[in-house]
Amino acid sequence: MHTREQKRVLITGAAGQIGTELTIALRERLGNENVIGMGHRTKAPKELEEGPFIYGDINDLESYEKIVDEYEIDTVYHLAAILSVTGEKNPQLCYDVNLNGLYNILEVARKRDQRLFCPSSIAVFGNDEETGEVVLKPTTMYGVTKVAGELLCDYYYRKYAVDVRGIRYPGLISWKTEPGGGTTDYAVAIYYEAIRNKKYECFVRADTKLPMMYMSDAIKGTLDLMDAPLENLNQHSDYNLSSMSFTAGELAESIAKRIDGFECTYVSDNRQEIADSWPDEIDDASSRNDWNWDPAYNLERMTEDMLANLEIKLKEE
Ligand SMILES: NC(=O)c1ccc[n+]([C@@H]2O[C@H](COP(=O)([O-])OP(=O)(O)OC[C@H]3O[C@@H](n4cnc5c(N)ncnc54)[C@H](O)[C@@H]3O)[C@@H](O)[C@H]2O)c1
Repeated sequence: MHTREQKRVLITGAAGQIGTELTIALRERLGNENVIGMGHRTKAPKELEEGPFIYGDINDLESYEKIVDEYEIDTVYHLAAILSVTGEKNPQLCYDVNLNGLYNILEVARKRDQRLFCPSSIAVFGNDEETGEVVLKPTTMYGVTKVAGELLCDYYYRKYAVDVRGIRYPGLISWKTEPGGGTTDYAVAIYYEAIRNKKYECFVRADTKLPMMYMSDAIKGTLDLMDAPLENLNQHSDYNLSSMSFTAGELAESIAKRIDGFECTYVSDNRQEIADSWPDEIDDASSRNDWNWDPAYNLERMTEDMLANLEIKLKEE
């Protein structure tokens, strides 16, 4: 069984950090009219005005079904979610959107034979209290919903043959759209503040090391996984994906090399605890083996590109 061709695609969470860039990338491939962005409360970014953009709530099954039928959607990239930090502020909402919302997406896909991309996160991991080993025992509501979400997606694959695929994204760094309430937001904010004020107060310690990825690699990984022939996949919704791991201190150094006088200070808040519960490295051998995952960016290349693009963007604002 080969991967079916995508005709009409819907992206939930299209106004978000990943959604904005994924919508642009898919429109380049499939044409503006064939890629429908779905937002919730956040206004559509200017870059997405070229094609259809609608507003809806994934928790409202009836209206979601209407959207899917009206646009004859055959593939959904389901990016709508409540992220880790926002999720700890409102765990009930996080549960509702990330699990009840996902259930709606899966049920609609089952009934209409749609293909699905449903991302997970390194937040699925936690440290075993006794052995210190990295295990699938998250301590945040976000992590709990992501582990349960992976299991739910795999269930729909096994039971109903819904072709659902997913990546455990690490912290994503990008310049087009700002991140939406995650633990790794400092790794984006630091670039903005370096350009604006030559200083940044980081909310995790300098020695906090986490797996990270530049957005263009994340988009490439997403498209490559969705393009891969189904028979090559030994996993479905829980592919680890890695490209670089660095400490907050190393990130600050890579910026200081390029911005004279940049200074970073470190004052941890409650986000430190979440960061400490996640692994600092990820083994992504199965993504490399099954669908030839091969990232392009390391820390230095990413910093070069982030600063060049943000300089232009912030001047235009
Ligand atoms: N950005 C990262 O670093 C990162 C890392 C790991 C995993 N992920 C995962 O990738 C996906 C996308 O993340 P992102 O960073 O782009 O998130 P984001 O917060 O930037 O965007 C998510 C979007 O979902 C929308 N949304 C919230 N509730 C909704 C609802 N009820 N109905 C419809 N839309 C709703 C929001 O309006 C928001 O624009 C999520 O599943 C997230 O868990 C992201």
